[in-house]
Amino acid sequence: MIRVSGLYKKYDHAEFPSVDHLSFSFPEGCIAGLLGPNGAGKTTTISILSGLIKKYSGEVEVMGMDVKKHAEEIKGKLGIVPQQIALYLNLSCRENLRYYGRLYGIPPITLGPLIEQLLKRFGLQEHGDKQIRHYSGGMKRRANIIASLLNQPALLILDEPTAGVDVQSRNMILRFLKEYNEEGNSILYTSHLLDEAEALCQEVLIIDQGQGVIQGSPAKLIQEHQTDNLENLFLKLTGFRVRD
Ligand SMILES: Nc1ncnc2c1ncn2[C@@H]1O[C@H](COP(=O)(O)OP(=O)(O)O)[C@@H](O)[C@H]1O
Ligand SMILES: [Mg+2]
Repeated sequence: MIRVSGLYKKYDHAEFPSVDHLSFSFPEGCIAGLLGPNGAGKTTTISILSGLIKKYSGEVEVMGMDVKKHAEEIKGKLGIVPQQIALYLNLSCRENLRYYGRLYGIPPITLGPLIEQLLKRFGLQEHGDKQIRHYSGGMKRRANIIASLLNQPALLILDEPTAGVDVQSRNMILRFLKEYNEEGNSILYTSHLLDEAEALCQEVLIIDQGQGVIQGSPAKLIQEHQTDNLENLFLKLTGFRVRD
């Protein structure tokens, strides 16, 4: 699903690299978690994977294709859910989704039913004609996820999809991710919520200061390091210093 080798990224004028010789891979068909404290380099890494950041060194393959050489092809098969809401606040949810659907070139005859099916799946069917600016945080987040699903991506990448949402929305999002994976799709998501990642992911990669700390299945890592959960392992490996 993803293969990264020697990835290095330093923003212009930055003193330190944000991603510092990072190498990892995730197999196809899994739910993978990219975990790390604030500023670890999670968003930078997924921005590179999804083609939003083009200036970097190292090798990055997504779905078997080099990101620099096959950007367009990858984009068509990829769904990206940014942490910031990427919807027009003055349009209704349906209007937003129709707009994004047209950008993907989905014919109206397919798009209409697809939008309704996704609205239903995320509990938004009744609220589809409301302007996004009247949505709660959790509703905005769910609508944002729907927008990234219109091209029915084989790989879905989400940046902190459950950060700061209410418990019910969080539950719905996590249940969706599990189901979407069971339908044969791959998922990569970032989070700083370790208990959530432990329950959801088959594979996790913990990074800190742009560097890989550890990778593996949560159960195996916990057992190998003789800790009782991922959070304790995380603290053991990344230390107790507070990151701002
Ligand atoms: N556009 C940017 N310009 C300069 N530095 C940046 C930029 N974006 C992120 N950084 C820095 O890169 C590091 C990693 O950031 P980020 O990838 O957002 O981490 P995370 O998503 O894990 O919190 C941080 O030190 C951050 O301040
Ligand atoms: Mg981030």
